[in-house]
Amino acid sequence: MTTRAVITGTGRYVPPRVVTNDDLTQWMDTSDEWIQQRTGIEKRHWIDEEAPVGTSDLGLEASKIALERAGWAPEDIDLIIFATLSPDLFFPGSGCLLQHKLGLESTPALDLRQQCTGFIYGLATADAYIRSGMAQRILLVGAEVHSTGLDISTEGRDVTVIFGDGAAAVCMEAVETDQAVGVLGSVLHAKGSMAESLKTDAPASREWPRLTAEMMAERRHFPHMDGKAIFKEALRRLPEVTKVILKQTGLTKEDIDLYIPHQANMRINQFYQQMMKLPEEKVFHNIQRYGNTTAATIPLALDEAFEMGLIGKGSTVLFLGLGSGVTWGANIHRFPE
Ligand code: ACO
Repeated sequence: MTTRAVITGTGRYVPPRVVTNDDLTQWMDTSDEWIQQRTGIEKRHWIDEEAPVGTSDLGLEASKIALERAGWAPEDIDLIIFATLSPDLFFPGSGCLLQHKLGLESTPALDLRQQCTGFIYGLATADAYIRSGMAQRILLVGAEVHSTGLDISTEGRDVTVIFGDGAAAVCMEAVETDQAVGVLGSVLHAKGSMAESLKTDAPASREWPRLTAEMMAERRHFPHMDGKAIFKEALRRLPEVTKVILKQTGLTKEDIDLYIPHQANMRINQFYQQMMKLPEEKVFHNIQRYGNTTAATIPLALDEAFEMGLIGKGSTVLFLGLGSGVTWGANIHRFPE
């Protein structure tokens, strides 16, 4: 018998406010046509300006659903892993805030700052904790509140139109089994030389003081992206990492029931599907409805794919993505029969 890390519950939550592409035109020079053609996005959810909430609040709602589906009480959790690039506070991490909101008093909480690959790194970390015996039940959350940090003027339009707020969570459990189930493998990478390609560089601890009116006037507290460089790197790395993980796990691309890529741009994922010669229906998209919710995209898509009946007991799913860092990677997970 071997210890395997198996996903036993999923949940998602997006704030109720819907922002359509047409809504964005009241603040910036853009159009529904441009956004749909370049990215596939039709709408996204943003938190309510009048009653703002934090990343851990969105994470809490998603976690409650995942916990209920897994049949866990909050007290059953022995580690929280919280992936986000938009933590509620500069510090402490959103994992600690979520832990308190779940009514827990000393359960450990670990934040991951891996941006779009937060869930992929989180799943690999949870798998390592569970297989080493350091934890039996892990709550892994991916959540973002992007909307409070976006430049909604025309100057910021290339980045702002792609981001949405949202959260999703999975419960990961140690299962003793002879079967090849749970996380079958993970491949992780980073390339810090491309850090400048996608970043928000203020407030910054390397500046004195960390945030000034001048920095804000230069719009350094908003995200900046070299979209073309990221796009090109994704098209190189995503097929590459897929081949490596399939080889590592001894699977073929036909063994995968559903490919769940990070939802950064539908065109990236369509190119990926064509380059990998995969049938269209094997690559999942929901960016149309949510935009890029960064650390939340993959678990959010997983939860929807379950609900839509695209996957279920016995399904083998491949998660993959590339984003700021740059970081990229993949995991394969098989659900028990
Ligand atoms: N509306 C209208 N016009 C726009 C908009 C907009 N929202 N944004 C840019 N434009 C204009 C530009 O000003 C430019 O005009 P010009 O030719 O007159 O100068 C023109 O459209 C083309 O702009 P590009 O930035 O070159 O557009 P591109 O085709 O590269 O598409 C996009 C931009 C969609 C952002 C694309 O580059 C992309 O998706 N890149 C990858 C994103 C990604 O994967 N990010 C990683 C994940 S995010 C994370 O890690 C946090």
